[in-house]
Amino acid sequence: MPADLAARFAPDFLWGAATAAYQIEGAWNEDGKGTSIWDTFSHTPGKVSNGDTGDVACDHYHRYREDVALMAELGLDAYRFSVSWPRILPDGVGRVESRGLDFYDRLVDELLAQEIRPFLTLYHWDLPDVLQQRRGWMADDVPAWFAEYAAVVADRLGDRVTDWATLNEPEVVAYLGHASGEHAPGVRDVGVAEQAAANLVRAHRTGAAAVRAATPDVSVGVVLNISPIEPASDDPADVEAADREDARRNRFFLDELVPGADFVGVNYYFREIVGRDGFVSLDGVERTDMGWEVHPGGLTEVLLRVHEEYHVPVIYVTENGAAYSGLHDADRVRYLESHVAAAADAVDDGVPLAGYFVWSLLDNFEWAYGFSKRFGIVHVDYETQARTVKTSGRWYQDLLASRR
Ligand code: FCB
Repeated sequence: MPADLAARFAPDFLWGAATAAYQIEGAWNEDGKGTSIWDTFSHTPGKVSNGDTGDVACDHYHRYREDVALMAELGLDAYRFSVSWPRILPDGVGRVESRGLDFYDRLVDELLAQEIRPFLTLYHWDLPDVLQQRRGWMADDVPAWFAEYAAVVADRLGDRVTDWATLNEPEVVAYLGHASGEHAPGVRDVGVAEQAAANLVRAHRTGAAAVRAATPDVSVGVVLNISPIEPASDDPADVEAADREDARRNRFFLDELVPGADFVGVNYYFREIVGRDGFVSLDGVERTDMGWEVHPGGLTEVLLRVHEEYHVPVIYVTENGAAYSGLHDADRVRYLESHVAAAADAVDDGVPLAGYFVWSLLDNFEWAYGFSKRFGIVHVDYETQARTVKTSGRWYQDLLASRR
């Protein structure tokens, strides 16, 4: 069965797993690291479930060797991680903290020693807090700050890292961070969110240019969360509302960020049904612990859309996965199996899909939900930091092994 599924992809298709710095690293105030907006946000009472913080998280900062060994055991071809901006530039700009760079240097070397290809994301939501005090993503200067940071990282790692993403899910950064306020920095103002979105677009461009200037032979792209947005009915008012949501959520970022990117990373979790009065929740559908509908067909749909409407040379699924509890996670196995099959359907239809990254390698700090939601194919005991491969992790290992 895994062999049949794996055989639907080219032999050089990349199978990986993804994480992000704040969600796994811990070591929040070590080795000269500056404070990020997520440190501040999670330390603010009432912002994160159960008062959880990323202070320790999975302690990956100290356990990265063990974690890379685990990736090797699972047989991963690639690993997507993010760099913490305030580890590198504690003041946001200016002074470089070499101990922060040294950490990623060691991580990259460890990955390469295990023949695991590093996919680096520059910004996965942990802006230096000092820059937030200078208006963060609302500031006119933020594209220049981001370019400075990108150049520092590319100068150090560009000789070994070939795959660079500027931003993770700028739509979430803009709107969850600045309109709903569910994420750091917790601003609630749609106008501000729109301004942040425009500045994220500018920062992607300056950041991509900085990476290319530092290291010309690399691939530079962006990672977008794309959800199919379906109208609740054929009624023109519902169709209109769905179209508006699609424009805000998907089209703006696709139109602005895809042209010129060497690759696009698609993060896919669920579809949305929209009517004139807002989001519609379907009854009787299967849902994960996040309450997100399980809808594998949506992955095929978004991949086809990015391919057909934007003609991207290379597409990756940079995140896909589900929150479920338990070590014997048959539900996650079913989720992954159906979504990998949906990705294969897109390949059959001509999508230049070059890789798939499961979210996530490890259970980790799930933003406003803290540690209450578990996305890992590897279980983390937060008391002891013990890692235990779940049934889904073994399933993924078998899938990858069946190619050989
Ligand atoms: C995505 C984020 C990732 C993780 C998953 C569940 O939006 O990029 O960090 O939280 O959702």
